[in-house]
Amino acid sequence: MKYNAPERMLPMKDPREKDRIFKEKILAIADEETLSWLQQKGQEFGKLMSYYRCAMMEIETKFNVLNEEYSLRHDRNPISAVKSRLKSIPSIQEKLKRKQLPPTVSAIEENLNDVAGIRVICSFLDDVYALAEALLKQDDITLIERKDYITRPKANGYRSLHLIVSVPIFLANEKRQMKVEIQLRTIAMDFWASLDHQLRYKKEREFTPQMAVELYECAQMSALLDRRMDALRQQTETREEAT
Ligand code: GTP
Ligand code: MG
Repeated sequence: MKYNAPERMLPMKDPREKDRIFKEKILAIADEETLSWLQQKGQEFGKLMSYYRCAMMEIETKFNVLNEEYSLRHDRNPISAVKSRLKSIPSIQEKLKRKQLPPTVSAIEENLNDVAGIRVICSFLDDVYALAEALLKQDDITLIERKDYITRPKANGYRSLHLIVSVPIFLANEKRQMKVEIQLRTIAMDFWASLDHQLRYKKEREFTPQMAVELYECAQMSALLDRRMDALRQQTETREEAT
């Protein structure tokens, strides 16, 4: 599912009816033993996806708490929006194939870092780093990987701070460490990235080198905008402190 994609309003099929149709289709090509093996795999996969959803909830709550506390202290919100998405099954399958990995639950858990994704859209540049630091200081968060595409943007101009972290989820009888990909960016970075994504993946039209140059220049403009806005914020905050 895409970040905050509107949910499809289709009538829900009775799950037992869906199970029956699925069983019929499988039995036409396989035996009972294969069917029960498939059902077990399906359940394991469903459980893993549910654990990823829990981990996303944990991280989302942590950011909401940080936002709440900061707004009490400084009278403004450092976070403009928090979005989350669970990687779709076709994308998971495609990534496993691309990495030449087997389609198993353990291959997903061990090798894919972005099944659970959180995007934190911040008001100002400094907020990105302040929030990342505040999250990483928490004693239940383990940093696995940090990519700073703000200090070193990608060749196409893409900017964001990416973190892969591990967070525990507490179940009735166990504690599990789950990986979550966090993308922290400003409103300007998010604006650029979403338009970049739309333009690049537009099927009807080819993405030309000139378009890439134009987009790169837009990225530079958005970076300048962020710096100027951050300078303005600093000015107003020093004036507030002085009064
Ligand atoms: P993936 O295998 O695609 O996850 O790449 P990676 O493991 O090298 O991760 P990276 O940190 O480079 O990028 C992960 C995510 O960041 C992507 O899935 C996008 O959501 C976002 N991203 C990275 N590069 C770009 C870009 O050039 N444009 C846009 N719009 N998004 C990007
Ligand atoms: Mg990815």
